[in-house]
This record gives sequence, C-alpha cells and structure tokens, in this order.
Amino acid sequence: MPRIDSPADLEKLRKSILSQRDPDKPCITLCSGSACHATGSGKVAESIEEEVKKQGLRDEVDIRKTGCHGFCERGPIIVIHPEEICYFQITPEDVPEIVSQTIKEKKVIERLLYTDPDTNEKIIHESEIPFYKNQKRLVFGSNGSIDPKSIDDYLAIGGYSALAKALSGMSAEQVLEEVKKSNLRGRGGGGFPAGRKWEGSRNAPEETKYVIVNADEGDPGAYMDRSLLEGNPHSILEGCTIGAYAIGSHEGYIYVRQEYPLAVENVNIAIKMAEEYGFLGKNILGSGFDFTVRVHRGAGAFVCGESTALMTALEGRVGEPRSKYIRSNIKGLWGMPSVLNNVETWANVPLIINKGADWFTQFGTDGSKGTKIFSLVGKITNTGLVEVPMGMSLKDIIYKIGGGIPGGKKFKAVQTGGPSGGCIPDELLDLEVGFDELTKAGSMMGSGGMIVMDEDTCMVDVARYFIDFLTDESCGKCVPCREGLGQMRKILTKITEGKGKEGDIKLLEELSEVAKEASLCALGTSAPNPFLSTVRYFRDEYEAHIQEKRCPALSCKELITFHIDPAKCQACMICKKKCPAEAVDGGKKKIHVIDQEKCTKCGTCFEVCPSRFSAVTKISGEPVPSPIPEEERIITRKSKANE
Ligand SMILES: Cc1cc2nc3c(=O)[nH]c(=O)nc-3n(C[C@H](O)[C@H](O)[C@H](O)COP(=O)(O)O)c2cc1C
Repeated sequence: MPRIDSPADLEKLRKSILSQRDPDKPCITLCSGSACHATGSGKVAESIEEEVKKQGLRDEVDIRKTGCHGFCERGPIIVIHPEEICYFQITPEDVPEIVSQTIKEKKVIERLLYTDPDTNEKIIHESEIPFYKNQKRLVFGSNGSIDPKSIDDYLAIGGYSALAKALSGMSAEQVLEEVKKSNLRGRGGGGFPAGRKWEGSRNAPEETKYVIVNADEGDPGAYMDRSLLEGNPHSILEGCTIGAYAIGSHEGYIYVRQEYPLAVENVNIAIKMAEEYGFLGKNILGSGFDFTVRVHRGAGAFVCGESTALMTALEGRVGEPRSKYIRSNIKGLWGMPSVLNNVETWANVPLIINKGADWFTQFGTDGSKGTKIFSLVGKITNTGLVEVPMGMSLKDIIYKIGGGIPGGKKFKAVQTGGPSGGCIPDELLDLEVGFDELTKAGSMMGSGGMIVMDEDTCMVDVARYFIDFLTDESCGKCVPCREGLGQMRKILTKITEGKGKEGDIKLLEELSEVAKEASLCALGTSAPNPFLSTVRYFRDEYEAHIQEKRCPALSCKELITFHIDPAKCQACMICKKKCPAEAVDGGKKKIHVIDQEKCTKCGTCFEVCPSRFSAVTKISGEPVPSPIPEEERIITRKSKANE
C-alpha cells in the first residue's frame, strides 16, 4: 500500500486510480446493505460473479458490492452503469438474462424496472424514479456507488480531499470557523450546533481531548447511521479526523452497537486501510498531525446512546447517564474535553470543508441547514432511507417520496424523533421538517426516525407502546424516570384495556410534567412526548377509550370483538379453516358464527375473509349482535362463493 505523505501525493494517487477506470466500462453496482442482504443480495452477488464468468465477460464488466441504496422496500437492487439502468427485486434466476441482455446486448429488461404507480410507466434510470428524484442526497448519495471495503473507491470520488485541504491549507481555527459558519446542527438528537460544541472543547485547557462517533442508534425502526457506517465508513473517519484537528484531539472512538456486524466489519477495514495510506495515525498526510481511532462495540442498551452514558460505557463502567452541570465537551471521557457527534453529523463535515459553509447553508431553512436522512417506515408505500433538504414538508416526504399510504387507507399521523418523539397529525402535514419546527409541533427531529401511521393505528396504543419501550430502557438511576414512566405505562395499558377511569388523562399529564422537569437525562425528560403529542392531537381517542370503552381505530384487542355479518357470510369456510382457536362454527352451506368464548381476537378471520364478501367485521363500544337462530343459518340462496 502506498503511504500518502502530502496532498500532492493524494492527488497523484487519485489520478492514477481514475486513469485505471474506464467510465464506459459496464459496472454492476449491487446493493449489499443489511436490508438488501436480508432479501437475498448475497445470493444475487454470487450468481452475478458466476454468470459473468460463464458468459466470458469477466474482464469486460466491473462488479461492485455497495452500501445501501435507500429504496429498501424494493431490494435487492442493482444499478448498471454507465447507463444507470436500475433493476429492483432481483433474484439469482434473473441474473443470466441481465448479463446476456443488458450487459451484452444493451437491452433493458422491462419486468425488472420500476413501474410508476400513477402513470403505469416503466422507469429505467434510478435518478428518475420519484423516490430518488425528489431527494437531495448530499451525504447518502455515494453509498450506492462505492464499495465500502475499497479505499480506492472512496478516493476516486474525492475522498480525503477535505482532510488534505484542512491539514494543508487551513489552520485549526479556520476549520472550526467554517463549521460554525455552516451552522451544522447535530443529527443525533437535540440539534446542538456542532461548531459551538467543538469550540468549547478546543478552548478547554486540558491537553488530552477526545472525539467520539455516536453510532449507537437505538431508536426502533431507525437505520440511517448503520447504513452510512456500513456503506461509506471513510466519510465518517474523514469527518472525525477533521474534527479532531479542529479541536486538537489525537484520539477518537467509534461507539457502535454490537448488533451492527456489517458496520463494525466495514469500519474496521476502513480504519486499517486509512492507517496504511496515512490518513490516520502519525503525521497524517505529512502535516505533523497525529490521530488514531478505535472501535468500541456497545452492548445494545438504548440509554447508552445518551452522551454521558455512552462515555461511561466507553470507560468500561455501567452505561448510566450522569448529570450535566459541566457539559461533556468540557469534561467528558475520563474527565477530559470530548466532542461527541452523531454519525451523520460527522459525515457532513468533509462536504462543508470541501465545498464551504456558504455552499452548505444554501440548503435548508433559517434554523436548520443542510439535509437530513430519515428512515421512512410504517404504513408507507416506499419504505427506505431518504435524504431531503431541511424545510421539505412532511407531506412531500410522505407522498412524493414515500408514495403515500398503501391499501387505500387514510393517513393518520407521522411519528418523528424516535421513541421519545411525537405524533404529528394530518392537519400539520404541511409542516416543514427542521429542528425547531418539529419541536414546536410537540415532536422532535431525534436522529431521523419517521414512522407513518394509517387510520387503523390507535394513538393511545402508540403512546403505550413507546412509553413501554422507554420504561424498559430506563436505566433506573433517577426516580422521575424509573417510577414515573412505570406509572405512565400502567395507566396507558389500563386505558387500552378498557379499564381507564376519569382523571387518568390529568394524572398522565402530571406525571409527564414531573418526568420532563426532574429526570436526570433526556431519556426521561423527553419520554412523555409520545403521550403529550397524542393527547394534544388525538384527545378524543383517549376519551373514547376511557368513557365509552371504545377504540375508534378498532385496534385495541381488549376493546374489540370480531363478528360475522350473517347477511354477508357466504359460508366459504375460509375463516373456519384458518382460525387457530377453532372459534368459528359453520359449514359448507351454513352461515358462520364466532364463538366469543373461544375467540382470541388474533384477527385471522378478518384478514382471510375475501374482500368481495367482507363478512367479518370489528366492533368496538357496542354490543355484539346476538347470533341468528340455528334454522336461519342454512344458506338457500346461491352462494357468491360458488359463483
Ligand atoms: C436516551 C438517549 C439515546 C440517545 N441515542 C443516541 C444515538 O443512538 N445516537 C446519537 O447520535 N445520539 C443519541 N442521543 C443523543 C446524544 O445524547 C447526543 O446528543 C448526540 O450523540 C450528540 O451528537 P450530535 O450533536 O451530532 O447530534 C441519545 C440521547 C438520549 C437521551
């Protein structure tokens, strides 16, 4: 491996890498991120390798296993360059045809293309698919074009040029000023300005300072940081090395959860390569600046993502938060000034240094600059990772990029900010995403989870679910969080079971107030958000549960009953056969009836009843109609099922 001792050497190396790459040579980029891996991209990769050899094209085609492309709903994904032909949901069986037709004959295989659901048109190019077209992928865009295990791929797209620029052409103060000017706010939680945090550490008198990458990512449903670290680990290393230079640190840590094996593997490979090339270690790029990074695998506790808990865990102690009379950028890891930033925050740094703060601030709103990656999940047509400019409306994210709500259902709410975020209702869909805007609406940006909910979601149950998660994850060190959340969980559970009573909402509000005011860390202070936001926007649902023992979304198990409408039942026997509790009575020509004593409310009958009959219904807050007399259950009319 060549050691790069100067920015000029780096440029020479980059030119040499590019000169060995023919831009017209076909290159198959295959998404090998965790989501595509789970849907079989490993097997697709094997068959591409085999097939290319079999068809005598080994030297004619490049194959690149990349990080996540974002459109996880449609994986495994391949994009064939230079034409940028994008195929979705590839199986190993499709591969011989892809090689013989698209690679050899330059013919597009229609059935593997994306079909626009509005126009029914087939779309060939990745960048023209609405999911991608409406994004601004500044940070995440390279994920789909480089092999994270190859430092050459990163260098080919300009990798480490920001580090070279910072070390050779800028003083540490200038780097700090540029980041401050960019108004880059932390992408992991509170949106604290990165430059101000760095400045505090830089000005602290201690010689030893640390930089830390927060890759704990414990929010259910969120995987932005995982995908960045898996897909473009050098961008994070480059970002935190620049940060280290700015604050005068020589030692850094990447705190990554153990459940992210591919991220751990790829970042370790990246560190090794960066050390061999001289982008990490002693005398980086001949500048005299030294910096080393080590990976620390976390044990998967949600609270360990919190800054002080994370640092305590790094020190080898139980990962519990401490009070922050003195911020950790002043007294952090081992009592030394420590800058902790989220993975995505670090990934923005090389872009800001390379292109300048003025370029960066053209994206976003007054208070929130740049872009944000969200994991768009839940009841949404296009599940995946999306990167949008700050200020894009929730409506555009959900409908233009996410493709709206599947199954003809109505949108109900979107939950942002992770488990301690809040639910934003339909009437606020025009809200522009930004740190302050989301907080004002009773939610928060958090690290970028975005869970879409449709009309079938019970908002009381949503609050119960998140409070349940947070109660389990509370470290128990402070009373308001440990006891307060436990009580909130009990009350919310009772409400969803139809055992709520007058005064419960008020009690929940009081408990929320105490947790917000008096908890030790932000787990406790933000934990009431799921309740507070749902009671703010969906109070009628709470009241229906408490006063009428009714779940308007027909979702809470204890408050619903399944019933077969005798006028609609065609005695098709499907629900009877599928019911796991054998609770359906009926015969070939005999109208079916559910035995409520036996029914476990699993909902199977509801799901399997053919939509053309829709005979199984859910009832809540009203008595179940009495079964029709036995003699009237025999069907004499011509059954639709037998038509
Ligand atoms: C309970 C809890 C969990 C957190 N988990 C994460 C996490 O997984 N990743 C993250 O970057 N920040 C997390 N944070 C926020 C961190 O405390 C911290 O603010 C953040 O890492 C700072 O980086 P940033 O300024 O770049 O956002 C969490 C905070 C709390 C209270």
